[in-house]
Amino acid sequence: MKNYPTIEDTIGMTPLVRLQRLPEQYQVGRGNVILAKLEGNNPAGSVKDRAASSMIRMAEARGLIKPGDTLIEATSGNTGIALAMIAAVRGYKMILIMPDNLSVERRASMTAYGAQLILTPADAGGMEYARDLALSMQAEGKGLVLDQFANEDNPLAHIQGTGPELWEQTEGQITHFVSAMGTTGTIMGVGNYLRAKNPDIQIIGAQPAEGAQIPGIRKWPEEYLPKIYDPSKVDALEAITQDEAENMARELAAKEGIFAGISSAGALVAALRVAQRVENATIAFIVCDRGDRYLSTGVFN
Ligand SMILES: Cc1ncc(COP(=O)(O)O)c(C=O)c1O
Repeated sequence: MKNYPTIEDTIGMTPLVRLQRLPEQYQVGRGNVILAKLEGNNPAGSVKDRAASSMIRMAEARGLIKPGDTLIEATSGNTGIALAMIAAVRGYKMILIMPDNLSVERRASMTAYGAQLILTPADAGGMEYARDLALSMQAEGKGLVLDQFANEDNPLAHIQGTGPELWEQTEGQITHFVSAMGTTGTIMGVGNYLRAKNPDIQIIGAQPAEGAQIPGIRKWPEEYLPKIYDPSKVDALEAITQDEAENMARELAAKEGIFAGISSAGALVAALRVAQRVENATIAFIVCDRGDRYLSTGVFN
């Protein structure tokens, strides 16, 4: 019988597409090309499918978990949706803990995949509070926390998948890689792979500016910095304001036909800033997820 893929097998190998109008509008340097890696094309709709699959597969391979077990995770959204999908595919129970101010589409997607949700009051401490609660539930024996913030299998997904894909899709021409930073799994993993291929490649992180609330990404306080994060592996950090990210999300959809989330637009703001300073560069940025995940926020109205 033919060996058909599972839904999990369809994760990765996402398209890398060239922007056609925004580079000219933003007057980028001569000979620059800006490329969008469309991670919203993954089966559960975001870059997080890669990390979720990697963390569960590797924990299973090490004998830490087996189908039927319960997994717990604090998540700002996309990881929860991805973990809920992989848990459904592989037969795990999934408990997801998230602040109650995150978009309703996200919550509904998680429950559609069969996950149990615990909503924590946003004013009790947001993601930091959710992360602490996940760990205390694990201590009480309620399940295993994968802890995407400290789990090396999160960046591993990008060392094995996203990084090699970008290298091959650009035929080794990539000069700059730009990613918004949440757990930092994407930027750490892709950066690790690309730098080994060419030490001159510039790795640029996009972070919310003071006061900006961009779903999925954070400028973490020192004591909550992800354990997988190594600041020496990022060449430059760009602070993105709320308005910059939201305006760019609208422009990206209307002028390029790429309907993406706010953090993806933030990464593009950073990519365009870089592109205004350099010439003959091949700049790739991560489109983490699709814009329809943010419709209820009114950003696209
Ligand atoms: C919408 C969105 N953007 C960006 C990111 C950042 O990706 P990473 O956690 O790999 O840094 C995430 C991660 O959850 C996300 O959900």
